[in-house]
Amino acid sequence: MGTLEGFIRRLPKAELHLHIEGSLEPELMFALAERNGIAIPYASVEDVRAAYAFSNLQDFLDIYYAGAGVLQTEADFRDLAMAYFERAAADGVVHAEIMFDPQTHTDRGITFGAVIEGLLAAMTEAEARLGITSLLILSFLRHLSEAAAFETLAMAEPWLERIAAVGLDSSELGHPPAKFARVFAAARAKGLKLTAHAGEEGPPAYVHEALDVLGVERIDHGNRALEDPALVARLAAEGMTLTVCPLSNLKLCVVDDLAAHPIDRMLVAGLKVTVNSDDPAYFGGYVADNYRAVAEARGLTRADLVQLAKNSITGCFLPPDEVARHLAAIDAVAHD
Ligand code: ADE
Ligand code: ZN
Repeated sequence: MGTLEGFIRRLPKAELHLHIEGSLEPELMFALAERNGIAIPYASVEDVRAAYAFSNLQDFLDIYYAGAGVLQTEADFRDLAMAYFERAAADGVVHAEIMFDPQTHTDRGITFGAVIEGLLAAMTEAEARLGITSLLILSFLRHLSEAAAFETLAMAEPWLERIAAVGLDSSELGHPPAKFARVFAAARAKGLKLTAHAGEEGPPAYVHEALDVLGVERIDHGNRALEDPALVARLAAEGMTLTVCPLSNLKLCVVDDLAAHPIDRMLVAGLKVTVNSDDPAYFGGYVADNYRAVAEARGLTRADLVQLAKNSITGCFLPPDEVARHLAAIDAVAHD
């Protein structure tokens, strides 16, 4: 039967909630700082890790945006994404839908082209060398204005064929989804798919808004939907995918303890939940670590893990033939 760890790694999985900037490990941060002649406020890798103690989302975001300052060139973005793909491949990820935050970079003078061309180069290499497919999700920073989001969408125009979806991230409280209703409508009109962070720190009303005003096809996080039974029933009935991130929830104090994580309650409620890493370099684990941590903390069965892996595949933005191929591969491992 093998170990739980081995079973998790063998299960083919999609990662649907990953911020590429959040995969910047301290070692690479130091290497890029040196390569680019950029000063960082840390003396050592241990010093960086010690700074990663957060009491809420904003605490984390302040450090995360500062860390991204070492990313300067197309090669930096390629190296960043390649490092993620290597870790993901080792975890049994067969497909990744990667969020990137262009405004974090364009606002400090890096071109949109340098960011996306670097990511695309890594995506091509990852498919050829590691067999991982991937799609890009352009995420708007919700603490910035609607006008700034429109400018970002305009910058993306030459690369629209290479972008699968738009997303919405950053400081949730005080920045409800409706602030971006028009830019999401514009993205939809361009043929992009839609997803948004909602219900991480924000109330259930933000999840309703993401569904009704933005018309998203996935909810990133969605934990606080559990406070609203009618919303839970609706999400379950619609088969809406929730991209849950257990170690992120722990590190950002969305839950006090993994032993109190609602993942199994979500499964029992019929929600299409998936397990993801969010910002693995900051939260202490990649996707397999998240599966293992929550499986141990909540006593998930192998059948639960298979369900989570299948949800990640049926919740992804790949065409039906590729979804069917990955589901068959999961069944082959499950019945080993
Ligand atoms: N940006 C990166 N990670 C995020 C998260 N968990 N919530 C909101 N914005 C983010
Ligand atoms: Zn996130």
